[in-house]
Amino acid sequence: MKYMKIAQTDLEVSRLALGCMRLSSRSLQEAEQLIGTALDLGINFFDHADIYGGGECERLFGQVLAKHPEWREKMVLQSKCGIVPGVAYDLSREHILAKVKESLANLQTDHLDVLLLHRPDALMDPREVARAFDECYAQGWVRYFGVSNMNPRQIELIGKYSAHPLVINQLQFNLVNSGMIDTGINVNMKNAASLDHDDSVLDYCYYHEMTIQPWSILQASWEEGNFIDHPDYAKLNQSLEEMGQRYGLSKAAMSVAWILRHPAMMQPIAGTTSVTHLQELAKACDVTVSREDWYQLYMASGKTLP
Ligand SMILES: NC(=O)c1ccc[n+]([C@@H]2O[C@H](COP(=O)([O-])OP(=O)(O)OC[C@H]3O[C@@H](n4cnc5c(N)ncnc54)[C@H](OP(=O)(O)O)[C@@H]3O)[C@@H](O)[C@H]2O)c1
Repeated sequence: MKYMKIAQTDLEVSRLALGCMRLSSRSLQEAEQLIGTALDLGINFFDHADIYGGGECERLFGQVLAKHPEWREKMVLQSKCGIVPGVAYDLSREHILAKVKESLANLQTDHLDVLLLHRPDALMDPREVARAFDECYAQGWVRYFGVSNMNPRQIELIGKYSAHPLVINQLQFNLVNSGMIDTGINVNMKNAASLDHDDSVLDYCYYHEMTIQPWSILQASWEEGNFIDHPDYAKLNQSLEEMGQRYGLSKAAMSVAWILRHPAMMQPIAGTTSVTHLQELAKACDVTVSREDWYQLYMASGKTLP
């Protein structure tokens, strides 16, 4: 496993992280095996959210930690709050504090290494967020803070009031869903790819050394599902297969190696709950995709270059 530092923190984290959004589909024994395998592979970063599995994903993870308390110090634990299922979004001070307390209880830990604000809340008051951060930090509940699915202006708005730097932005990104890169490649063009949907968030995070954590690294979209072996992405799958053979990687791992190649040092979050798939994906960290292959895969996913 390769490691990287999250800027403005003392966190040394594995290049690949394990996302726990689907963990509740597994038994306690399977969850224990998955988390143990991740640690054996050198994966030390685990991503949660209060809402995953209605809280069940955090609870299951907490039960595993209760069985293996010695694992906690090897881990960097992250959770998120701000989405309220069936309601909308809530980044009020009260909500953040209540959800952090709940996550700590569920995860059976005394602190989160990182707390992310899960999604923008149109009614967010950045002063309240800043107070919530201060209180979480003062109580020892959270060490570092970040955001998810936020654009540069939203980050700056929170940053204006927060005494704590925002060190991570978790964003949807993969070979198929590569809008963050398309805009940069198509600057000053009149085609659809030149449209900037997120205010150059990739360049912004790169410039400010905020770690980007790509989520849903294999999903084309919620509707289409996984692009691996999907008939609509035949050309991409053919290129992944061919290159995967050269690099000694599966198609899924090749897709992760493509993300890892970006010099912004993104930290992809793998959402698999399968030990075999996780072992497969971890191999992506051992290779460096050539420039030529990187662009070839980009174009095989249906993009064109100006
Ligand atoms: N910030 C946000 O708004 C946000 C949104 C969504 C997700 N997330 C985070 O990102 C993480 C990943 O999201 P995701 O689960 O949608 O991402 P993903 O890694 O793209 O998808 C994983 C899914 O692909 C399946 N899969 C099929 N073949 C696979 C293979 N060869 N290798 C690996 N997986 C394969 C997995 O099934 P198996 O389990 O059978 O392998 C699993 O159902 C989540 O756990 C969560 O932590 C964040």
